[in-house]
Amino acid sequence: MNTTHITTEKDLTLYNEKKPLATSINIWTISDDDLFIDPLSYYSEQWSNAHFTFLNFEDYCNKLKNQSNYVKPDLVIIDAKSDWVNISNNLKKKISKSLPILLITDDTNTEILRNALKLEIKDVLSIPFDESELDNLIIKCSELKSINRKQAKTSIFINAKGGMGASIIATSISHILALDGELTVLIDPDAQFGSSSGLLSLIPKYILSDALQQVNTLDEIAISGILTKHDSGLRFIPNRSDHLYDSINDINEQAFGDFLAKLKGSHEHIIIDLSRGLEKQTLPAVADADNVFIVIQQNIPAIKEASILIKQLKHLFGFNQEKIKVIVNRYSKNIDINPDEIKKSLHISDIILVPNDYISVSSSTNLGELLATHFEKKPIVKTLKEITSIITNKYTVEENGFKKVFSFFRR
Ligand SMILES: Nc1ncnc2c1ncn2[C@@H]1O[C@H](COP(=O)(O)OP(=O)(O)OP(=O)(O)O)[C@@H](O)[C@H]1O
Ligand SMILES: [Mg+2]
Repeated sequence: MNTTHITTEKDLTLYNEKKPLATSINIWTISDDDLFIDPLSYYSEQWSNAHFTFLNFEDYCNKLKNQSNYVKPDLVIIDAKSDWVNISNNLKKKISKSLPILLITDDTNTEILRNALKLEIKDVLSIPFDESELDNLIIKCSELKSINRKQAKTSIFINAKGGMGASIIATSISHILALDGELTVLIDPDAQFGSSSGLLSLIPKYILSDALQQVNTLDEIAISGILTKHDSGLRFIPNRSDHLYDSINDINEQAFGDFLAKLKGSHEHIIIDLSRGLEKQTLPAVADADNVFIVIQQNIPAIKEASILIKQLKHLFGFNQEKIKVIVNRYSKNIDINPDEIKKSLHISDIILVPNDYISVSSSTNLGELLATHFEKKPIVKTLKEITSIITNKYTVEENGFKKVFSFFRR
């Protein structure tokens, strides 16, 4: 009978907390044997941000079956007494070819080592091993994750005036990104009129002010728990709660900035619905934005407000024109103010025209029928997909080389 014996210089009862890792990691251990699991379970308690999930073979099979419903592991520890060759093959196929796997065995024969090499197993530890060997593997895994981690791109949709369509556009774009497999989070900071929950037909688990109150203690795993998940894979967090009548969901500017920084480490895209325009408490989102989409319609007051907003963005944040894109929502050829006039008055060379589509948008807002799934063939969805391509930086290939999809909008 073999026990996962971790020898340490210290007496087990004197276990200390280990130093927090560079970035939190998620570790699965797979074994059916309590004698293997117990020492690792005890060991795991020393880490504040290495999160261990102990799985027997059946749990592991169930987890892999329901792929969208778990946080992917950064390291998997497998008991060599299990069917580790098949498990490793399967994990590499289903999760990632480069997933680090650690095999723990009390019988290090050449056959095991040969197989481990073939399967690109990261390391094999023979029982008994020194605790520091496992520590080092975990630390390296966390450092690697931190180095490889890309930072999410932030795109904000900001209304030049109330009711221009920032919410329907921001929500639809987030949904399209998620359908395209991009790890996306939608934030709707509007505590009073926020409409993203309605558009997505979801009741949020937590709201933004809950997250901001505990921002200092949130790591990726806790963040993933605080966000509400849509079937498309989209994560979202609103700030509106319809059942709390004794408080106003305030946003602390500093905490909001910290929350965004944390989200950036674990997502590809952050989309923020700034329906209410520029507000002090949401300024960290603006300061951090890679893309600023200003939403207007074909009317003089909206164009005037957009002109002021563009000047504010340039002066307050030093944004260049590249970053700022103007969306003319509910565009119709029948309205007197044409795209050239709008471009001229805003001193811009491109605008994005989102067609007026009362039927599709009303179904979306009234019945929660998301545009990209229920009205896929409509011109409005085609344009929204093109905005998504701007965010993902995907280019269309033209005969004479690469051409940005943005040129589509030059009419
Ligand atoms: N492209 C469109 N075609 C037709 N109707 C639209 C379009 N875009 C928006 N609308 C209508 O405008 C209304 C307002 O849209 P939305 O809630 O997205 O605007 P908003 O700018 O977020 O508003 P608020 O300032 O209240 O947050 C929606 O109820 C929808 O019916
Ligand atoms: Mg809105």
